[in-house]
Amino acid sequence: MNRTQLTTTADLTKEEVDFFIKDAEEFRNKRTKDLDGVIVASLFFEPSTRTRLSFESAVHRLGGRLITVANASSTSMKKGETLNDTINVIEKYADILIMRHPKEGAAAEACQSTKKPFLNAGDGANQHPTQALLDMYTIHNEMGKIDGLTIAFVGDLKFGRTVHSLLYLLALYNVKKILFISPEQLKIPNTYLDMLKKKGIELEESSELNKHMQEIDILYMTRIQQERFEDLDQYYQLKGSYVLTANLIKTGKPKMRVMHPLPRVDEITTDVDELEQCAYFRQAENGVYMRMALLKNLWKNYNIEAT
Ligand code: NCD
Repeated sequence: MNRTQLTTTADLTKEEVDFFIKDAEEFRNKRTKDLDGVIVASLFFEPSTRTRLSFESAVHRLGGRLITVANASSTSMKKGETLNDTINVIEKYADILIMRHPKEGAAAEACQSTKKPFLNAGDGANQHPTQALLDMYTIHNEMGKIDGLTIAFVGDLKFGRTVHSLLYLLALYNVKKILFISPEQLKIPNTYLDMLKKKGIELEESSELNKHMQEIDILYMTRIQQERFEDLDQYYQLKGSYVLTANLIKTGKPKMRVMHPLPRVDEITTDVDELEQCAYFRQAENGVYMRMALLKNLWKNYNIEAT
């Protein structure tokens, strides 16, 4: 494995995913000096809580140092600077770059301006590869396997970049079935269905959650992505389409696990939080370990390449 940049899950191999899952587990109770003296730029041109703070916690746990943009309006992008110019400069200040940006394709674009280790922390409705890897790690950790599972995605499947990214990784394994549950207006784009069909995975689209509860192993809930709507009235119509309650969970398999990249709005009631099925807070914690694994390995590979 000689990867130094991660912009999409579409080019990850199964070997890489398995490797990162194993390495993330190693970091569960470990702090190291893998990034001793290394300067990491954490560039968040779009809001974030978990992704930014878990990345920054990961850098600290590896002994690295941070320079941060936590607000797009505090940078020269506000003055009209291009992304390429911004990255071209920041890559002189930092050894590793982490970037979240509202525009689809921004991560690939940024990588035209730097050869340094780069991690996409979300580009518009496109990709969120580090989330997808921590999701795979969580599924593996909760269920002991990935093969043979029925996974249901619920909510905003049109704009949800965590769903889009995770699908490429699930396609590398022998999952039993993937269910897409969404309102008509927020259906999973055809490109993802076509990609999965080519891999021979059983797929089903539905608008109802209740009738599928018995067959689901992983229930992946998502938020309706308000910021991606051009017409806010449509957002308010669709908000609240699916609400997962403790009572509904009791109709499903006892070993089922509920995941959510968070933040939640109203799609999971708080009475679910106490149930064993609730895996979303453990999932958020796993983000630190997966990001430690990614930072360590991308930096290591970059140094091997440089010598
Ligand atoms: C997700 C994101 O930003 O895409 N959150 C996250 O990274 N944990 C999901 C979301 O915002 O709904």
